[in-house]
Amino acid sequence: MRNVLTFIILLLSSLYLCIASPLIEINSRHVSRSNPRPLVLWHGLGDSYGAPGILRFIDEVKKMHPGIFVYSVRFAESQEDDRKASFLGNVNVQVENATEQIRSQPELADGFDAIGFSQAGQFLRAYVERSNSPPVHNLITFGSQHMGISDLPACKPFDIPCQLARRAVRGGVYSEWAQNNVISAQYYRDPDQISLYLERNHFLPDVNNEDLLSINSTYAENLKSLNKLVLVMFSQDKTVVPKESSWFGSYSPQEDRVRLHLDGSGVGTYGGERTIIPMRSQPLYVNDTIGLRTIDERGDLVFQTCESDHMDIEPCWRELVEKYIGSTTQQLRTEVAHEQIVMGFGK
Ligand SMILES: *[C@@H]1O[C@H](CO)[C@@H](O)[C@H](O)[C@H]1NC(C)=O
Ligand SMILES: *[C@@H]1O[C@H](CO)[C@@H](O)[C@H](O)[C@H]1NC(C)=O
Ligand SMILES: *[C@@H]1O[C@H](CO)[C@@H](O)[C@H](O)[C@H]1NC(C)=O
Repeated sequence: MRNVLTFIILLLSSLYLCIASPLIEINSRHVSRSNPRPLVLWHGLGDSYGAPGILRFIDEVKKMHPGIFVYSVRFAESQEDDRKASFLGNVNVQVENATEQIRSQPELADGFDAIGFSQAGQFLRAYVERSNSPPVHNLITFGSQHMGISDLPACKPFDIPCQLARRAVRGGVYSEWAQNNVISAQYYRDPDQISLYLERNHFLPDVNNEDLLSINSTYAENLKSLNKLVLVMFSQDKTVVPKESSWFGSYSPQEDRVRLHLDGSGVGTYGGERTIIPMRSQPLYVNDTIGLRTIDERGDLVFQTCESDHMDIEPCWRELVEKYIGSTTQQLRTEVAHEQIVMGFGK
């Protein structure tokens, strides 16, 4: 069993060779309160807090917002061990650990903006929902798996090892061991085994308040307190299945496909083509169980497409980081003044 699971890890891991994740530097500590709002970055699978791509990203952010304090979440000082922790570990423990890290940075005490790369997007959302102290102002998630991953990228016809591997993942992903040790297993959401997923997975169903018997209303209250939630989907994402997960989309569960087939009312037949349930049709949205609907209806949910493959942020990051990261209290005051003027005209 261990061998199969190790194989699963390697397989899942090889899928996410994330290019851009975060790191941090220690030299901008003496930043005064009136400077840009600080930023917390959390890197993706296969990356580390100080990987070259992350350092480059931080440099660019600092050029754009001079004086900004940036903290890059890490679970070890050594890059190699931190990278390992992106594959192996318990997500709930890591989120708690990240919360401690954030609390121990005095620069973050008044709140911060946050960027989560790939899997870290849903981890930072868990931070907001479960603790959010100090509070996040804007949260940007790049290519994250908010409704989990539901499959591995498709195998080519006759690629037997690939097909065997997919079967092994489906068989082993909800084992106790995988759920406690394999990071990506903790956001694997198999549309054909939803009840097993709800029962065995201790991370994603919880932060998504998917189990109607244990809804935690604090999660919604906290998420609603965000100023903006920016969800970036990569239009050519070949890693995240389905890519719409970045926008809270998911495959319809097996029961739905069977029912549609029996009704003759839909394209989804069992084992046939899978249909995507978009965010606004998700039960968690309809019932507003994590506050998404509130954020959306007040106009603070931003859907962004990046015209590229998974974590190739080049075509889209500048605009987003300019607009949603590092605003100063000065700018905020200007925004308020502007709003008052507009309202004055209205009256
Ligand atoms: C967080 O993880 C690091 C690395 O495993 C460990 O050294 C540290 O003690 C942990 N911190 C907390 C608060 O759990
Ligand atoms: C709900 O979440 C909050 C914040 O994480 C936690 O303090 C509280 O214990 C949770 N409530 C239940 C019933 O689990
Ligand atoms: C909304 O919540 C109610 C009560 O918890 C539940 O009966 C209903 O099925 C939920 N609706 C959806 C779309 O999940």
